[in-house]
Amino acid sequence: MPHFLDIHTTGASDLRAMIDNAHTMKAARKGRPMAAPDDEQPLKNRMVALIFEKPSTRTRVSFDVGVRQMGGQTMVLSGSEMQLGHGETIADTARVLSRYVDMIMIRTFEESVLQELAEYASVPVINGLTNRTHPCQIMADIQTFEEHRGPIAGRRVVWSGDGNNVCASFLHAAGQFGFDLVFTGPEALDPDPEFVALARASGVEVEIIRDPVRAVAGADLVVTDTWVSMHDSQSNRERRHNLLRPYQVNDALMAQAKPDALFMHCLPAHREEEVTNSVMDGPQSVVFDEAENRLHAQKAVLRYCLGV
Ligand code: CP
Ligand code: NVA
Repeated sequence: MPHFLDIHTTGASDLRAMIDNAHTMKAARKGRPMAAPDDEQPLKNRMVALIFEKPSTRTRVSFDVGVRQMGGQTMVLSGSEMQLGHGETIADTARVLSRYVDMIMIRTFEESVLQELAEYASVPVINGLTNRTHPCQIMADIQTFEEHRGPIAGRRVVWSGDGNNVCASFLHAAGQFGFDLVFTGPEALDPDPEFVALARASGVEVEIIRDPVRAVAGADLVVTDTWVSMHDSQSNRERRHNLLRPYQVNDALMAQAKPDALFMHCLPAHREEEVTNSVMDGPQSVVFDEAENRLHAQKAVLRYCLGV
């Protein structure tokens, strides 16, 4: 019974199979109304709990729709409305939910909550974002890159901005899918050195370049994310903005990348902060394909976890 907790703790061949499956399932649904069932119904008679301790638009809707398309049912739960938010332990919550549902997806704060839930649940657990990582997002991003540009192996991905949870999962993916990653951002917001070391140990190049213009040279893909994540204290907002302003992805920065470089952002975007409207809405942007592919990639993750 595999969980899907992180990119680096999932086998590379399993990740590859999930992406291939995501491409296949997307192609099979082309032109169908969203509520039309898939030809195959691998989640028939399955119940999936979707727990949110933080806000969400994409993760919530894409998981819900994806489960239904595959014949399953969902239950969307807000952490604060559960006893989880009133002192019941994570372990007991895991044991109880495992008696009612076939799978649990959770978006939470601390990584330890995810790990404890997975340890005590007797059903698969999926990471729908923690303060530390966001693996489902990166599955969608790999699918998106491949559908526009072919294999991502050997490509140069540049992350500009905060070395946050989405950046961490990109680092994990670099090792697993074999692409080089350049981080450009202020030293105070560097990604976790443990994740950088892990990616390097798998044989890919990971560089940290402070000058964004130099960093973006030769990029096949430029990625950014919000300057203030959901778990970041709002009292640091101004400091973060000041540190990150030089790393805004704008036309001048994109002009330094390869002419056919793609632009990605997991969304929600703060337009004219980390990215300009001209880039978000420009010809190199694939942000809405990324959002769509959350649906297809996560359907592959759900099938992997249930072995169906
Ligand atoms: N990208 C992403 O996870 O979006 P939501 O926060 O809307 O789920
Ligand atoms: N880094 C962002 C990603 C949101 C999908 C956050 O954690 O708020």
